[in-house]
Amino acid sequence: MTGDDVAIGWAEAREANRLNWEDRVPLHEAAYGLDAYDDPAYLGPVVEHDVAAMAPFLPGGTLRGLDLCHLQCHIGTDTIGLARAGARITGVDFSAGALASAARFAAKHGVEATWVECDVLDARAHVTGDFDVVYTSIGAITWLADLDRWAAQVAALLRPGGLFYIRDGHPALYALDEAADHLSTRCRYFADGTAQAWDAEYTYAGDGTVAHPRTYEWPHALSETVNALLGAGLRLERLDEGTVLPWRFSPRMVEVEGGYAWPEAERALVPCTFTVVARRP
Ligand SMILES: C[S@@+](CC[C@H](N)C(=O)[O-])C[C@H]1O[C@@H](n2cnc3c(N)ncnc32)[C@H](O)[C@@H]1O
Repeated sequence: MTGDDVAIGWAEAREANRLNWEDRVPLHEAAYGLDAYDDPAYLGPVVEHDVAAMAPFLPGGTLRGLDLCHLQCHIGTDTIGLARAGARITGVDFSAGALASAARFAAKHGVEATWVECDVLDARAHVTGDFDVVYTSIGAITWLADLDRWAAQVAALLRPGGLFYIRDGHPALYALDEAADHLSTRCRYFADGTAQAWDAEYTYAGDGTVAHPRTYEWPHALSETVNALLGAGLRLERLDEGTVLPWRFSPRMVEVEGGYAWPEAERALVPCTFTVVARRP
C-alpha cells in the first residue's frame, strides 16, 4: 500500500500505528544522533528553530519557567531541548517504548520531566495540570484522524493566555509523490475522513527495518487544521509556511541549512512546512 484510501476505524488504525512506532524506537535511538546532546548547550535543530519562532509570543521572549506540554514527544529529544530552553516539561506519547527511552535520556542529562502514555486525542483526561505552552512538531497530526478532537485537547490543556505552537509537514507536500522525478501529486490534499494506508519496512531515520510495516495516516488541509484550532476557541496569532524540512521527504531533496529542500529551481513552487501559533484567550 502506498497511500491508498482505506476504510478503517480509529481504534484499529491507531493500534497498527502504535505497533509500528514501538518498532521504530530502537532504530531512532540509534539514528537520531543522541550523542550531540552531550553538549549541554545543544537544543537540536528543530527546537532551536522553534524556540526562536515562539519567542515573540512568550512573556519576556523565553520559555524559562513556563510549564510546557509536548504532544507526540517520541523518544524525547526535542522535549529535552525544550527543557534546556528553560521549560518545565511534560511529554505525551502513545508509545510506552518511546517514553521509556525518553525517560532514560532525560535522566542521563539530569532533566526532570513527566511522561504520560496515552492517545493524544484523549490527552486532557490523562495529563495532570494546565500549561503555559502546548507544543507539537514535525510528523505529528498526519497520525490523527480527528483534528477537532485534537484541538479540543490542546485548548483544554492550556491555561487562559497560554500559547499553542505547531510546526509540521505541509499538507501540500504530503500530496506529492516523493519517488517521482518531478513535482507530481499522488495523494489527496483535502480530507474526507478516510485513512491512507502505507506499507514501509524502513523508517525515515537509519536503515533498520520494522516488524509492523503497515501504518495509517490522514491528510489534513491547512484550512482544516486552522479551523479546528479556531473551533476549539483558540485565537490565531501567526501562520507561516516554509521551504525547509528537518527530514528528507524525497530523494530529490537537497541538503540546505536547517535540513532539506527541493532543488533551488523548484523551491518556490510548493511549501514544505506550516507553522501555527495560537493562543487561548
Ligand atoms: C514523527 S514522531 C514526532 C516526533 C518528533 N517530531 C521527533 O522527531 O522526535 C510521531 C510521534 O507520534 C506518536 N503518535 C502517533 N499517533 C499517536 C497518538 N494517537 N497518540 C499519541 N502519540 C501518537 C508516535 O508514537 C511518535 O512518537
